[in-house]
Amino acid sequence: MITKEISKAKEVLINNQLVAIPTETVYGLAGNAYSEMAIKKIFELKKRPYFNPLIVHIKSISSLFEIATDIPETAYMLAEKFWPGPLTLVLKKRSHISDLITAGKETVAVRVPNHPLTLALLNEIDFPLTAPSANPFGSISPTSAQHVFNYFEKELDVILDGGECEKGLESTIIGFENNKPILYRHGSIAAEEIEQVIGSKIGMKTVDDQAPNAPGMLTRHYAPMTDTYLTDNITEFIKDFEGKKIGLLLFKDAVTDHTIIRQEILSSSGDLHEAAKNLYAAMHRLDQDKLDVIIAEKFPNEGLGKTINDKLERATKKE
Ligand code: TXA
Ligand code: MG
Repeated sequence: MITKEISKAKEVLINNQLVAIPTETVYGLAGNAYSEMAIKKIFELKKRPYFNPLIVHIKSISSLFEIATDIPETAYMLAEKFWPGPLTLVLKKRSHISDLITAGKETVAVRVPNHPLTLALLNEIDFPLTAPSANPFGSISPTSAQHVFNYFEKELDVILDGGECEKGLESTIIGFENNKPILYRHGSIAAEEIEQVIGSKIGMKTVDDQAPNAPGMLTRHYAPMTDTYLTDNITEFIKDFEGKKIGLLLFKDAVTDHTIIRQEILSSSGDLHEAAKNLYAAMHRLDQDKLDVIIAEKFPNEGLGKTINDKLERATKKE
């Protein structure tokens, strides 16, 4: 059921079952972070490999000490600046945090999501929520209750409807190595914004965020079912697909070619925030069109353009 009533979500969570929750980034598939049963269900429902750890969602920065310990000063600075918001911190875990959540690591990923419904829900329950994005492993992340419904209509009793996600891209993940911040995943907060707060360039280790400790594992992710490509020269690239049903994913300008079936323009004014917000919904629409091919164009490689390019590269990765 799609509902706005947090009491319904609360009831389900207390019974160790799962609900979909809205956040400002993407919808999450949430369970009680202190229930092994709920955690296992998340992995099963998503068909997610157990080596891929989950994020713990807390109601405020004051709950952080329940989850993590040995917190670097820089982590506090970032949390104070960006929480509630699309920043995930990877910190040393407290011993009671389940190894299932952390995939056996000594660190745990944690954030305070910025959505009124989910914050209200977190304030109604006495446990944190662990939640990956509410999509089957490897597929496009959901940015509306309807997207979640399309994936998990049968499996989920409660989908909490908080409207369209305001940011539309996952949180930015920052870890610490030798007390220095490292960017693990490009997300809704541009690397440049993080650098402004920490006062220096940030190191990056984003090679494969789906399998940080499993070299050579699949990097394909956020992927439509339709064959999808990424190019920096769209007009040249489409020539190779003459006679095919083509859909395009574009930044600001349409392509003049009447044979193209759908053109998704993410921001006609060239605003990267607007483009980010629209990206996944456009990918979902293109994927439903039963096209032969989706062709995306590369974004300017700055600010959120870097995050969008990162997602598009993973979505088009040929293995
Ligand atoms: O915006 C978001 O972060 C959304 C919403 C629902 O909060 N959640 C989300 O979760 O994107 P998920 O499971 O799709 O991505 C979690 C990422 C994974 O790439 C995982 O590898 C990384 O977090 N992660 C979790 N724990 C980690 C850890 N201890 N060390 C390094 N990476 C970690
Ligand atoms: Mg995900």
